[in-house]
Formats: sequence, C-alpha cells, structure tokens
Amino acid sequence: MNDTRKLIVTSALPYANGALHLGHLVEYLQTDFWVRYQKMTGRNCVYVCADDTHGTPIMLRARRDGITPEELIAKSYEARVREFGAFEVEFDRYGSTNYDENRVLSEDIYVKLRDKGFISKRSVDQLYCEHDNLFLPGRFVKGTCPKCGAADQYGDGCEVCGATYNANELVNPYCSVCGAKPVMRASEQLFFELEPFRDWLREWIPAHTDAATAEKLLEWFNEPLRGWNISRDAPYFGFKIPGYDDKYFYVWLDAPIGYMAVLTRWCTEHGEHFEDWWQNPESEICHFIGKDITRFHCLFWPSLLHNAGYRTPDKVFVHGFLTVNGEKMSKSKGTFISADTYLKHLPAQALRFYYACKLNGSVDDMDLNLTDFVSRVNSDLIGKITNLASRGAQMINRSCGGTLGRMDDGSRALLAACRARIPEVLEAYERRDFCRAMVIVREMADEANRLFDAKEPWKLVKVDTEATRAVLTGTLNLFRVMAILLKPVLPVYAGKVEKLFGEAPYTFADAQKDIEGCPIGAYEHLAARIDAKAVEAMVSDSREDLRSTAKATVDSAKAKQEKKGAKKSAMPAVFPEPASETIDIETLSKVDLRVAQVVSAEAVEGSDKLLRLMLDVGEDKPRQVFAGIRKAYAPEELIGQQIVMVANLAPRKMRFGVSEGMILASTGADGTFRVMQPMTPTTPGARLH
Ligand code: MSP
Ligand code: ZN
Repeated sequence: MNDTRKLIVTSALPYANGALHLGHLVEYLQTDFWVRYQKMTGRNCVYVCADDTHGTPIMLRARRDGITPEELIAKSYEARVREFGAFEVEFDRYGSTNYDENRVLSEDIYVKLRDKGFISKRSVDQLYCEHDNLFLPGRFVKGTCPKCGAADQYGDGCEVCGATYNANELVNPYCSVCGAKPVMRASEQLFFELEPFRDWLREWIPAHTDAATAEKLLEWFNEPLRGWNISRDAPYFGFKIPGYDDKYFYVWLDAPIGYMAVLTRWCTEHGEHFEDWWQNPESEICHFIGKDITRFHCLFWPSLLHNAGYRTPDKVFVHGFLTVNGEKMSKSKGTFISADTYLKHLPAQALRFYYACKLNGSVDDMDLNLTDFVSRVNSDLIGKITNLASRGAQMINRSCGGTLGRMDDGSRALLAACRARIPEVLEAYERRDFCRAMVIVREMADEANRLFDAKEPWKLVKVDTEATRAVLTGTLNLFRVMAILLKPVLPVYAGKVEKLFGEAPYTFADAQKDIEGCPIGAYEHLAARIDAKAVEAMVSDSREDLRSTAKATVDSAKAKQEKKGAKKSAMPAVFPEPASETIDIETLSKVDLRVAQVVSAEAVEGSDKLLRLMLDVGEDKPRQVFAGIRKAYAPEELIGQQIVMVANLAPRKMRFGVSEGMILASTGADGTFRVMQPMTPTTPGARLH
C-alpha cells in the first residue's frame, strides 16, 4: 500500500499511583482503535505512552506504603503493562516519565526558555505543614469553604457550592495527611509566562483542536494570561531544576515531555532518529486526551515546545468522561469499576466492542449503560456477526469436508455491495467515529444473515452439498470482510479468524480478496455471550472492593498504631460499621444534644490523650469536659469553634476532675479523628433536633 503518512500517537500518561478504571479505558481503547486502523492502512505509526511518575501524591503514597517512590513506580509499571495487555492495548513503547531521556529533555526545554527570558521568579505564599515538612498542594489541604462555610473542603475548590479559590483562603485549614494546622510560608517560585504568546496561542488553539474545546480555552483570553508555576519545593519526587538544589519541576512540566522521551527511547531501540519523527514536518503528532487536561495540552504544552524550538502537536483529540448508567462513576454504587475487577468477570473484547459502538469522536461524555452493554454485545457481536462464522464454519467442516468452493451469485453480489462501503468505514475510523464504523459492519451482518436465512443451508445440506458449499463459502467471505473491518477494535478475535482461514495478519487490502476453493481450519470459539449475572457480580465486587480498601486502610492504620506501641484502637474491623439496633423517637429524644462553643482548651498534664475543654452551652457558666482528642487537634485550633456535645450525660469523676458532658466526634476509614461541627455558626446552647 502506498501511503506515506507518518504518525506519532499518544494517550495521556496515567498516574503511577492508583489502578486503571473503565474511565481511563475510554481513552486508551479509542487511541488503540485509531492506531490499529492507521497501521492496517499501511501507515507508519508509532504509539507511545508512559506512566506519569512524579509529584506529591506519588511521594506521599510511597511514604505511606513504607517504600521508595522508585519502588512504587516500578510496581505500578508492572501492573500497568499487565492491565493494558489484558485489554489488548498495544503500544509501540510504554515507558516512564522518570527516564533519563526525560530529565535531559526537560532540562533542555527549561534552559532554552530561561535563556530567552520567558521564566520569571516570584515569591509565593503557600501553606506548609510543619509536621510533614511539606508545602501542601491544593488537594492536600482541607478546611472550611470561604464562600459557603461548608466544612472539610479541598484547597482547590468547594464540592458543596462549586466555588474555586486558593488554598490560602480556606478557613481553619488543616493538612489532609496528618490533620495538623499548616502555617503560611513564602518561597520563591519559577513561572513560565504565557502572556507574550497570547496572539500565537489564539491562532494555534482553534487550528489544532475541536471547536468546542477551542471555545472553552479561548475564554481564558478575556483576561491577561496568568503565568504558570512550573516549580515545586523539596521534598518532591521529580527532576531537580538546573541551578537549584531544593526546587523541582512541577509534574505537569515533565509529564508531556514524557511523550518525547518515550519516543526517543523507542527510536534508540529501533535504530530510528528522533529528528526524523518529532522534528519532521511530514510527520503528524497526535495526542488523545480527556477534557479535564486540555489546558495543559493546548496552552502550556504548545507554548513550551514552540519557544524551545520543537514542533508542536498537529492534533489534540479531546474526549469526554465516562458515565455509568447515566451517572458519574460511583464507588458506593459499585460503578467505579477497576480494570482488574472488570477482567475478573468479563472479557476485554466485550468492552472494546461496546466502547467502539459508543464513541463518535466528540467531546461529549460517554455512557456505559450496563443493560445496553449486555444486549449490544450479545445481539450484535455474537448474534449477528459471530454467528455467521460459527454456523458457516461448523457446517462446512461437518458437511462439506472442510473445504470452501465457489460463492453463489447472491453472496457475490452482496460481497461487492459490502466492499463498496469499505471506504465509508475507513473514513469513519479516520474521523474517530468508531460508532459509525460499527453501524456499517452491523448493517453488513444484517444483510448477510438475511441471505443465509433465505438460502436455508441447514435444509439445503440434506439435498445438495455443492449448493450448500457455495452458500457457506459466500457467508464466510462476507464474515471475513467484517472481521477485517473490525480488526482495529477486536484484534484478538481477528487473529483467530486469520487462523481459521490460514492467512497472514490482515490489512485492509485483504478485504478485496476472495477466498475460494481452499480448506479451512477447525472453528475456534471467537467470542462468548455475556451474562447479566456476571455484570451484577462485577458491580457488587466493585462495592466490595471499596469495603476492602476501607478495611485495608483501617487495618494499616491499626498496624501502624500497634507498631508505635499504642493500645489497640477501638476502630471497627469492617468499615463502615453496620448500623446499630433500631430505637424509637422517645429513646432518641432522651439524648440532649447541644451546640457548644469552646471557651478554652488546654492539654491535661499527665495524659497524652486528653484535652480539657470549657464549653459554653448557654448556661450561667461553661461546662468542663475532658475529651480524648489531643492527638488530632491542637488546643488553640479549638478555641472559639462551635462543636456538639451531649448535655445530659451523668457527670463522671475522672483522675483530673469532673467531666460534665461528652463531645461528638467520629473516626474515618483512614483512621482520622474528627470533631463534629454545625455547618455554619449558631447560638451556643441551641438544641439539636
Ligand atoms: N497524568 C495525567 C496526564 C498527563 S499527560 C502528559 C493524568 N492522568 S490520569 O490518570 O488522571 O488520566 C489519564 C487520562 O485518562 C486522561 O486523559 C483523563 O482525562 C482520562 N480519564 C480519567 N478518568 C476518566 C473518565 N472517568 N472518563 C474518561 N476519561 C478519563 O491526567
Ligand atoms: Zn501534615
């Protein structure tokens, strides 16, 4: 085939912490479909990807697991290669952003930008946890939303009112790792300025991505473009910035450079040259990404490349997010399904086929409807398409000596009609409208089934073997064309079809060939029906997975405490603990719960657990309560806060004095202890009802 296109294709690099889930697969599967389509067309196409290994979450995760970040990313790499392999995703090279090639390229790009004067320095105030010795990224600090007052919101935005803000603005911030109150620290940061490239970007963006994405991105241009902070202070897991001892590149700087680094590695391993690929104006650089990371790929990334003398991407293909049964994936509903859990219950090719039926190249979210999933796979892939092969091949083998003859005229005519539609299928693949490609193949299958049923070979075989052979030869030729067209989506399936007919790996050109007069192999099972019960089991397993991770967290927290020599905690073995025995409203109303304002709080001498609290519950004088919360809260954090107390608990004499009540608190699955608060302040002494 005479096609000179040369393509570099990438999927976004998955973070090295955390398992792949069906949402991620929306991206990797569609990229794989597209790459396989390109290769089957005869194009020179290299598909690279890598684990995204740097950043604070990975460093902390390794700390928590008691291993080095290098060990963590090595484990993740193994898991990733296994998961992708199982889902038939075939990279030309899967690598890591921690490769030396990536360090070299990142430094090179940075130095070029710096020397051109595009990097500026500014002092930035950031929250710092003195307990963990860590500048806290937005996701690692929590506190009360400055806009709506909701408690326990992340530093980058409130999930209750939707406000976005700076972590510095949180009210009563605390470190989400250890619970301590962070301090504000100034440090010098490096910024990559974007404003100088405003005009260039304004033209670049609409020319390299879809209209909807471009429109969203261009909204940023109504204001001056803010510089992008590309530095992070130690401790950090990443590459050191040249000229600094304690500063690292922000993970999002070196992550996309990882695309180039892995390509470099692939070139080295295959006797190719990076210059002939990335820097070659004849080659096409195509990124597949999700809609959440367009800013990185369409603002920062092209600006970096352009100004450091590298070619910018030719196309950024953006896709939407996966919903399951019309909703956001949910851990509690069991629809947050990991790649591994899926594979425990269902075959990979069923998901590949279903995703192909749903993906149309737009940025719209894509729904995995689990009922529709079962029926699409069973009725279309199995009932319509695969049955042609199983009936055709088995009957030829059983009744016609396992040898194809010449096709009958009806089949030949239909085959010609199907071939006439191949350009349409290929064009749909090119546009990433996989859905359209699947529809056309299904229509071909409908016609082929109609023909098969009209000829009634199961009756014909009793009277005329040669006529039967002709019909079945036609059926199998039709099926073979469908299998070739499906190969980008179902490569393993197509591989079995190649074997059945004793042929070399298919390219699209093979769809023009008739196979007649030759023996066929034994029919090997191509695809199995899927059972709604397996889907149910997968969903319930995903729910269980959640329980067991929560349990694992509790267990590891317990183990840690035990290691430290602390007494066994009272945490439940299973989280969440099942609800207690039912009570009636009278019983409940016996408990007098009040809003209490903390007047003073101090550590109790002689106890490493207790704080002595004086609580205003609207009475003449404050109540004294001893609470075992010293490990979770510093006394000064509590002063002035409103909390909740049981006001009618019998006073209890303790070693340090009388406790005149009890405060409400709970322990989460991660072992963190939290005192309960009214969502917004109210009158001390107000009764809960
Ligand atoms: N590490 C970054 C990407 C760096 S690229 C230089 C990252 N990793 S990720 O693991 O969070 O996501 C990887 C890809 O999967 C992203 O393109 C993301 O949009 C996509 N998806 C993650 N969850 C998804 C869904 N629920 N649905 C569809 N795609 C999703 O971002
Ligand atoms: Zn901390």
